[in-house]
Amino acid sequence: MNKNQFLWGASTSAFQAEGAYLEDGKGLGTVDVRVVPEGIADTKIASDHYHHFEEDLLAMKELGLNVYRFSFSWSRIMPDGHTVNEKGLAFYDKIIDRCLEYGIEPLPTLYHFEMPQALVDKEGGWLSKSTIEAYASYAKTCFEQFKGKVKTWVTINEQLIASAASDLHAIHAQSEEESMKNMYQISFNMSIAEKKAMQILKQIDPESKIGPVCSIQIVYPNSCDPKDICASYDAEEMMMYSLLDMSAFGHYPKRYTSYLKERGWLPTISKEEENLLKSIRPDFIGINYYFPLTVKAPGKDHDFSKLPPFWRSTLFEVTDNPYLEKSEWMPNGMDPMGLYLGIRKLYDRYHLPLIITENGMAYSDKLENGEVHDPYRIAYLDAHIQKIKQAVEEGYPVFGYCPWSLIDLVSSHQGFGKRYGLIYVDRTDTDEKECARIPKDSYYWYRERIKKGL
Ligand code: BG6
Repeated sequence: MNKNQFLWGASTSAFQAEGAYLEDGKGLGTVDVRVVPEGIADTKIASDHYHHFEEDLLAMKELGLNVYRFSFSWSRIMPDGHTVNEKGLAFYDKIIDRCLEYGIEPLPTLYHFEMPQALVDKEGGWLSKSTIEAYASYAKTCFEQFKGKVKTWVTINEQLIASAASDLHAIHAQSEEESMKNMYQISFNMSIAEKKAMQILKQIDPESKIGPVCSIQIVYPNSCDPKDICASYDAEEMMMYSLLDMSAFGHYPKRYTSYLKERGWLPTISKEEENLLKSIRPDFIGINYYFPLTVKAPGKDHDFSKLPPFWRSTLFEVTDNPYLEKSEWMPNGMDPMGLYLGIRKLYDRYHLPLIITENGMAYSDKLENGEVHDPYRIAYLDAHIQKIKQAVEEGYPVFGYCPWSLIDLVSSHQGFGKRYGLIYVDRTDTDEKECARIPKDSYYWYRERIKKGL
């Protein structure tokens, strides 16, 4: 985190990129055992980054990056959740050393949607206190191993999705009521775990920086009806401020607290936990932003049960926004203004430096005559960078930009039909081929854009 140098990067995550899901002592992760629909790629090979990492890092160097945002696979480092696998650490040692050799700052995330399945099977996963301790000890191992090399750490990627998606955390509830209760308890336990990791880092390497990555929810009201405006505020609070307030202030917003209490979903907080939560603040916040949401006050007949858990609040109903351009994989619309507003909202509330850790456009790119032309992605990235530039010129401390994703990855839920990469990975959902790398037009465009500076 050098204040004077804007960081230009790109992002990946371990389970979506690496493959080699049982190689060199790696244990099964929660994402390796989930049921993937027939015809959709899984994590076994993914983008085969485990065997192509030298090539991928060289491509980063040639792109002109000075930061690489990636994640550690907990089950590669600790296959059973506790015991260190030296070969797992060695893999990340190689990545980090090569980054440093190329002048690229490594920015690892400790938890990006996956954990050793053994912790779920034997200890109850994120619902248990022992998993909080296991996460803290995993974080300590990583901090000690990479001290002096890694200067900036991410605790948890997108706590909202990480706590809501049962296929990622692998805790499967028996009823709707139980799944809602679980979601809030898991999220609370993650907040405790995150604070423990922050404290441990400051003991081991006080100069290092650490923060969460939030999938920011910028929510527009469907109309100027005060009920819609209140619903949009509720939605932002439920899906964004509730999580970041815990990271930054160590407590939930009032409205969120009373909403959970009324439903019997508020986790019990001990005095010791309360003190821990308030004991430390993050050094920065990472922003993942793809699209905004639009909501209205819920109608009487609105069926909440069919929605993803994090949208299942009875305080708002998601609607269409006719002002935004849509695409096949971006049905909520694309909106650079949402990123600009997100930067302002987060800075005004938390007064912390910000980095864009993910931002990208999904498309079913096609390889034609050895080339991939993706003007839609170039337009998307360019428009979002323009808004970051505006925010920085106005004085907001945004210190870096990492588009999602460096290479095509197996999407969190939709395989290889949905691609975000600057570099095409030549495989399909059902045929892994050689996973050859082919830079897309957006790769060459981004290289020139970086040269211009923000
Ligand atoms: C973010 C995640 O939610 O968005 C990534 O941090 C994910 O892991 C990305 O891949 C894009 O979402 P999806 O579902 O299209 O892969």
